Amino acid sequence: MIHGDRHVRNISHDDAAQVRTLVGKVTAEYSEVTNPLFVEHASALAGKLPTAVLHACRPPDPTLGLVVLRGLPVDEGELGPTPASWSAADHWCAAEQDILLFLLATVMGRVFGWAGQQDGRLVHDIVPARGSEREQTGASSSVLLTPHTEDAFHPRRANYLMLGCLRNPDRVGTTAASVRQTELNNADIAILSRADLPILPDSSYGEDHSGAGVPPPVATVWRKNDGLGLRYDPAYTPLARASPEYGAAYRRLGAELERVSHTIVLNPGEFLVLDNDAVVHGRVPFTARYDGTDRWIKRVNIRAARPERPDAEAREHGYGQEVVDPYA
Ligand SMILES: [Fe+2]
Repeated sequence: MIHGDRHVRNISHDDAAQVRTLVGKVTAEYSEVTNPLFVEHASALAGKLPTAVLHACRPPDPTLGLVVLRGLPVDEGELGPTPASWSAADHWCAAEQDILLFLLATVMGRVFGWAGQQDGRLVHDIVPARGSEREQTGASSSVLLTPHTEDAFHPRRANYLMLGCLRNPDRVGTTAASVRQTELNNADIAILSRADLPILPDSSYGEDHSGAGVPPPVATVWRKNDGLGLRYDPAYTPLARASPEYGAAYRRLGAELERVSHTIVLNPGEFLVLDNDAVVHGRVPFTARYDGTDRWIKRVNIRAARPERPDAEAREHGYGQEVVDPYA
């Protein structure tokens, strides 16, 4: 747990009521986030959010690297059943919540999706799916989802990730750990700054990446203006190929991330924003219900205006995975 409430920004009842009214009007006019007119107007519409809500959408504290927006208007009783899989969540499923996430995310940066993930949707549904219980993807449940950078394999991965909780009856914890709270020595930072190993795409993108070319080795950490950057996904990194020196430094990093890891239990109406360049996230194991009342999280990828990443990333192929940029 994080001590105190410094990671929380509370939305007042009055502001939440105003947000609800705005989202209701926007949904009535545009129906859903896939409406190109909605995307075109999203920035102006987001500007109509209450001032305090706009202020709450400023970047997280750089050391903590995360913030929970608490008190957003999500009424669990008004939601339909939790879909049985992301693909069962059609565009009309929780359209208001999709619009709410998109508007808040628009205050923070540019929303984008991936052609090969969840049919290129801009707002993803994270729900447990039968048959995926033991995968290392958001559809899993019975295994620990090991800490990872979202879409670590790709040079155009998100700078911020927003996870909006619609339903979490069993109080399943999300884990988060910031590289900026670890105590790595300079020798380990120097080793992990080398591009020695690749990170392969996770199985939510399918299994065949043979046509993408040679997997490029990538740096695990790098120095940014506001602290260390991190790109980390051990479940998809061929660690058996690491030199003894690199492997040892990587293990020390993993142990440090575990030491500084927090567990955050999201309740409906609480939206977690993660700095994907400094914080890894995961999820504790749980038993899926498969009865329409399961944990239901909405996810959006956000690109910041000026991400600071190693120059070499610009030459990576990203395994052929195309960004869906609704503004292009
Ligand atoms: Fe993730």
